[in-house]
Amino acid sequence: MRDFTPKAAVVAPAPSQEQAEYEHPHLLKNYRRSPVNIVRGEGCELIDDRGNRYLDFVAGIAVCALGHAHPKIAKAIAAQAATLVQASNLYHHEPAGMLATELARRSGFGRVFFCNSGSEANEAALKLARKLAFRNGENERRTILACRGSFHGRTFGALAATDNPKYQEGFEPLPAGFAFTPFNDVAALEKAIDTSVAAFIVEPIQGESGVHPADPAFLAAARRLCAERGALLIFDEIQCGMGRLGTLFAFETFGVRPDVVTIAKSLSNGLPIGAVLIDERAAGGLQPGDHGTTFGGSPVPCAAGLAHLLLRDQLDLDAHVQRVSAVMWDGLVSLAADYPQAFGPPRGRGLMLGLPVREPFEAKSFMDAARREKKLLINAAGGNTIRIIPPLIVSAEQIEDGLRRLRAATQSVLAGAAAQSRPAT
Ligand SMILES: Cc1ncc(COP(=O)(O)O)c(C=O)c1O
Repeated sequence: MRDFTPKAAVVAPAPSQEQAEYEHPHLLKNYRRSPVNIVRGEGCELIDDRGNRYLDFVAGIAVCALGHAHPKIAKAIAAQAATLVQASNLYHHEPAGMLATELARRSGFGRVFFCNSGSEANEAALKLARKLAFRNGENERRTILACRGSFHGRTFGALAATDNPKYQEGFEPLPAGFAFTPFNDVAALEKAIDTSVAAFIVEPIQGESGVHPADPAFLAAARRLCAERGALLIFDEIQCGMGRLGTLFAFETFGVRPDVVTIAKSLSNGLPIGAVLIDERAAGGLQPGDHGTTFGGSPVPCAAGLAHLLLRDQLDLDAHVQRVSAVMWDGLVSLAADYPQAFGPPRGRGLMLGLPVREPFEAKSFMDAARREKKLLINAAGGNTIRIIPPLIVSAEQIEDGLRRLRAATQSVLAGAAAQSRPAT
């Protein structure tokens, strides 16, 4: 049998003893997981196998908007699971139709395509853009334009639209016809959007690259240029949408309406789902047989999504996010002001916030200290940034509590660094 063992030196660092203790022998080693074994969730807390309770400011990476194990979501999932789990897209079923209706009503986008993840939603949106141009007889209109610093997913098309050489290296050749323009640079965008562009895809807040909000003027210019030059404007709201900014859709926060919106993550509060919301004028791009998926829009995630949307109304979640996010913002501003040697000014909106970490410190050190010593879960995003993306139901008291824990973790990291740099006596 051919030996497929990579010939190149394995550059990944060996796991620490603490990490090795948790490594499962049969799981692919494609993640750098923190050494903790989560067994249960309750609201804004996760509980590990040793009974430790963590305050969760990660929410499954901006997923569990209504927190963990919400009883009404669990009930909706259980009821649907006991009724119909899978019928395929060969037939109609109510959960997908009802969720599409709710999304269309709330967004004003007339057509919805369901899939299973954010990457898949972007794949579908990009395929729609090219096929629409093709159907319109514009065979030269092939280019997908994305932004520097973008993240749109890990499948080949979404990866080709992702500006991160680390994620792309070794996977070449990537699909052709992708180009990049600097984020928030209107003059460059003027030049980049020409009649070869099928779609411009942009995150209203770039998440993975370190929480960088778009300038509203940049999005407005994108809207104008796409309309003038016949390109589709796609907002990737997979991370910043679904209420994270204090409006159900990020386009509402920014006051700019795209042609297509991709969502995923918190739509079903934790079950895998993705969706593409499409303006009626663009919806003819995909006709029967052009694109599809076995599981997309299957009944259980759709029932969970429906329960989520109805619950967020009852909770008046947008008003809640607008209120409590101010507490988080003020806390991060004062933390950054108190420790200017460690942090720059925070970035972001709503409950999608980033705290840039200054060299020689690393975001990961704060993330590890917060988890290990203070039982607070935060995340390290690109650009050496602490990312704060809690469940949207987080209370002001939990935010104050989390900020106290983050402050204590900061003091611990700084004390550790000071001890290391002190000359040995
Ligand atoms: C903006 C954005 N787009 C796309 C994706 C990919 O989503 P998924 O991991 O569900 O494929 C992500 C995931 O983090 C994201 O943040």
